[in-house]
Amino acid sequence: MKKIFLTFSVLLAAVCSCKADNYPDVKYGPWVQNVTETGFTVMWESSLKNFAYVEIAPNDGTPFELCDRPRFYNVIAGRRIADVFHSVKVTGLEPGKEYRYRIYAKVVENDDSAYGTDYGPERRASASQDAVIRTLDHDAPECRFFMLNDIHGNKEKYNALVNGVDKAVFDFFLMNGDMVSDINEADVLQSKVFDVVPKFTSGIPIVYTRGNHETRGREAHRFVKFCPTPTGLTYFMFRQGPVAFLVLDGGEDKPDSAPEYSGTVEFDAFRKAELEWIRETVKDPLFADAPVKVAVMHIPALRTPGSWYAQAWLNENFVPVLNDVGVGLMLSGHHHQHIYVKPEECGNSFPIIANDDTDRLEFEADADGWRIRTYDMSGTQTHAYDSTTIE
Ligand SMILES: [Fe+2]
Repeated sequence: MKKIFLTFSVLLAAVCSCKADNYPDVKYGPWVQNVTETGFTVMWESSLKNFAYVEIAPNDGTPFELCDRPRFYNVIAGRRIADVFHSVKVTGLEPGKEYRYRIYAKVVENDDSAYGTDYGPERRASASQDAVIRTLDHDAPECRFFMLNDIHGNKEKYNALVNGVDKAVFDFFLMNGDMVSDINEADVLQSKVFDVVPKFTSGIPIVYTRGNHETRGREAHRFVKFCPTPTGLTYFMFRQGPVAFLVLDGGEDKPDSAPEYSGTVEFDAFRKAELEWIRETVKDPLFADAPVKVAVMHIPALRTPGSWYAQAWLNENFVPVLNDVGVGLMLSGHHHQHIYVKPEECGNSFPIIANDDTDRLEFEADADGWRIRTYDMSGTQTHAYDSTTIE
């Protein structure tokens, strides 16, 4: 009996000692999405349940600790949430300004009581360097971003395509769908997209267009949790400088009745609702008054005799509306090859560019038009377009 008691005591001491060392960490991330003119959302995942907050400071050269900085928590309906997944919405910022952020957290050691929680020591949990994020600004003279698509979880390709990119010159990083092949495991986006180059992706806003492969898998409905947007949907509009963006979601590529989906999808209804949303959203002066209008959609709304169901539907239903509202360019992926569709080739009054899965597409625009360059994994330029000379 004495021996059992001693063993139990040793085990208890080990557990207590372990708890004393329960420092918070960042297992995946952080990454930033949902950037607007006045805020952005910082997300990360920790190994243990943490109670965390994000501190914000202007990127003005002052020491971060100079004064009390604004703190933001993961708040749902008035409650500050402790969890392993953290989604902290930062608000109250100014357009076109750079902000540093830091993550502080403490491990939840015992939350069995509804009237008091035990925590481990609080400490800074983010990487050693301060990440910097610039908010959007519709008055900015220019807009710059770069885009990858169809990476399908290939980390070597992902690394090669972002290697050497100076993120400071870009307003955001556009992931134009099929960054993974499915979301069957709940942490696939974290491990294969947001944590592949964390020092890079923690310091630039991500705009993530859902591709058809991100609609697949038993956890695919969690995409909206990991990729918050201003609308709370997988389609949304935003403006940076002279460019208004319609980020669209073409859904799955085959009919809803295709046996691969096992009765789990209803993308016909989804696309129809999205089309109605487009008709309303384009009335917003932020979009209507933009000198440059770009539609972003993983599945290009082109049409060939070989087009699959969704592509043909998008061409037939989305394109006339996009033509009417003055869209000047569609950026897509999906085909794993570079495709350029001239205006008027299949009912489109704007060019459609489907980027190769082995290329990085760089975009820049001012009020006079846009310019695009694509680069392969060795950094060699592969294609170039200029809106003023487009055919
Ligand atoms: Fe695709």
